Amino acid sequence: MCGIVGYLGNKSAKDVVIKGLKRLEYRGYDSAGISTLQNNKLEITKTQGKVSDLIAEISTGTHTGGLGIGHTRWATHGIPDNKNAHPHSDNSGKFTLVHNGIIENYQSLKQLLSDNGITCKTDTDTEVLVQFMGYLHQKEKLDFIDTVRLALNQVVGAYGIVVLCEDYPDMLIAARLGSPLLLGIGKDEFFVASDSSPIIEYTRNIIFLDEGELAVITQDQYEVRNLSGNEIVTKEIEEIEYNLDEIEKGGYDHFMLKEINEQAYTISEALRGRVNSEESTVTLGGIYDWIQQILDAKHIYITACGTSWHASLIGSYILEELLNIPVKAEYASEFRYRETAVNSDSVVICVSQSGETADTLAAIRKAREQGALTLGIVNVVGSSIARETHCGVYIHAGPEIGVASTKAFTGQVTIFNLIGILLAQKKGCNLEKIKPIIDDLDALPGLVQSVLDQGNEVFPIAEDFMDVENFLYLGRGYQFPVALEGALKLKEISYIHAEGYPAAEMKHGPIALIDDDMPVVFVVTARGYNKIVSNIQEVRARGGKIIIITSEENAELQEYSDHIIQVPDVSHCLQAVLTTIPLQMLAYHMAVLKGCDVDMPRNLAKSVTVE
Ligand code: AGP
Repeated sequence: MCGIVGYLGNKSAKDVVIKGLKRLEYRGYDSAGISTLQNNKLEITKTQGKVSDLIAEISTGTHTGGLGIGHTRWATHGIPDNKNAHPHSDNSGKFTLVHNGIIENYQSLKQLLSDNGITCKTDTDTEVLVQFMGYLHQKEKLDFIDTVRLALNQVVGAYGIVVLCEDYPDMLIAARLGSPLLLGIGKDEFFVASDSSPIIEYTRNIIFLDEGELAVITQDQYEVRNLSGNEIVTKEIEEIEYNLDEIEKGGYDHFMLKEINEQAYTISEALRGRVNSEESTVTLGGIYDWIQQILDAKHIYITACGTSWHASLIGSYILEELLNIPVKAEYASEFRYRETAVNSDSVVICVSQSGETADTLAAIRKAREQGALTLGIVNVVGSSIARETHCGVYIHAGPEIGVASTKAFTGQVTIFNLIGILLAQKKGCNLEKIKPIIDDLDALPGLVQSVLDQGNEVFPIAEDFMDVENFLYLGRGYQFPVALEGALKLKEISYIHAEGYPAAEMKHGPIALIDDDMPVVFVVTARGYNKIVSNIQEVRARGGKIIIITSEENAELQEYSDHIIQVPDVSHCLQAVLTTIPLQMLAYHMAVLKGCDVDMPRNLAKSVTVE
C-alpha cells in the first residue's frame, strides 16, 4: 500500500515529511517523492527506489519552508520508475498531489483531457487526477477548494490524496474515499498521513477522515467538509494510545502475522470495483478485450510455482467446473521444459505474487512463442510477468514482505473466482450456479475477519506439536490444494517436514507413516464428507493424532479429533480462502515457538528470480 505524509507548520516540512516516509516504509514500496511550497514556488523531487535514495536526490538548500507533502509508492498503474513516482503535477505546474488508491475511471478522464489538448506525461492514474484538477481550475475559474472538490466528485474509485496549489502558499487539502487518511492536530502545526506512525512523535491528537470527507488546513486552523454537500463536518479529536516502537510492523511481531491479519482488507481490495452483487456481474478491465478469445480456447493451462501453484490448482477446478472445458494446472518448472500441446488455440494463465519468478516467466515466454494467449494473475504491478502477458488481473494485496505467502494466496483464489464468474456469464452459464458465489464474495471480507478473530485458537495445537518431526495434511477436492498449501507453510518457516496429499491417496502409501507421533491435519467440508471421515477413522485406528479444520463441525468430528477448528461454510470454490487461514496461523505459531526467523526463513527468497 502507498504511504502519504503532509505537513503545515513552523518546522522544516522536508524534515517532517522525510522522517514520516521512513515511518511508513513497513508498508513496502518501490519509489518515493516529496513536494514543498515556499514563496508560491512548488519544488518536487522523486525517485524510484527507497527513501534513502530520495534523500540522496534532494539538493542542498532546496525544499525549504513549512509546507510539504510526501509519498511512498506501491505501484498500481504504471511501472515503478522516476516518472511514475509521486508527487504528480498538472501541466501548468500549479497543482501537485500524492495519492493512495485507484482511480477506476482514469481512462475516461484521460480521454476528456486529451480531447481538450491535455496530454499526460506518465502511466499513472494519479497524474490523470491532478491534470483533471488543472483542467477544471482553468476552465471553471474555481478556487483551490472547489477545484479539488469538483474533481473528486467526478472520480470513481478509491483515494486518499493530499494536494498543494502554488496560488495558496499556506493551504493543504486532504480528502479520502476508500484509502485511510488521518489529520494530526499539533500546536500551531498540522499533519496528514496514511496512518498515525508519521504523526505520533509530534502529537497524539488525531482526527480520522471518514469516507467522502475533505480537510482544508491553513497555518492556524483546519476544517473538514463533506465532499458532496460541502457542508462543514464536526470531527472528534482522538488520542493515539500505542507507543512509537510498536509500529515498525504495523504493531505485529512479524510481517507474516501482519499480512495474515490484513486478509479481510486485501480480499476487499481484490473485489473493489469489480463485483456488482445487485446485478450479479463481475467487471475485470484487465482482460475485458480478451474474453472472447479466452472463451474460444480449446484448452486452458495454468502455470505457477509454490503457493501460487496451489492457488492455480484451485483455479483449475473453478474454471473447469464453471466453463466445462479442460483446464490443467502445471508447475512452471515442468511446463517450461515439457513438450506441450500449447498452440494458438491455448490460453496460458500464470499466477505469481512477485511477478518475477524465473520459471513462471520462462513458461509464459515459451507459451507466447507457441502462439498462446497469456493472462497474468499478479500482485506486483509493473513486474516482468505483468508486463509480458497479453492481459491480466492484479490481486491488489499490497506488498507481501514475509517470505511465506499468505494474503497473496487468498487473493489469487478470489481472483480465480472472479475470472470464472465473468467467463461463465459471458458463456451463458445459468445464474443459479453463480449467484451464490457472488453473494459469498460480497460477504467474504467479513467472513475472513471472523476466522482471523479466532486466530489464536490454533495456539494450543502449535504448543502440542512443536517438537514433532513430520506432519501430514490431507484434503479432498478443493481442499486437497489447501492441504498442500498448509504443508508448505509449515515446512518453509518451521523447518518441520510436512506433506500434503489427497485424503484418498493415503491408503496408497502414506498410511505406512501413521503412528502415535504423527499429527495428521484433515481439511473437511461438506463435499466428500463421508469419504474423508472414513480416512479420519483409518488414521485414528493407527494411533495418529487428528487435527481437523472444518466448515462442518459436529459431534462426530469432535469425537474423532484431538483438535478441531471451525470456519464458516461458503461456496465450495471459495472455501479455500477460509480453510487456509488457520493453517497459516498454525505454521506461524509453530515457527515462532521454535524460534525460527518467520519473515526470512533460511535458504528462501521472497522471489525466486533464478532457476
Ligand atoms: C510460498 O510461501 C513461497 N514463498 C513460494 O512457494 C512462492 O509461492 C513461490 O516462490 C512463487 O512465488 P511467486 O508467487 O512470487 O511467483
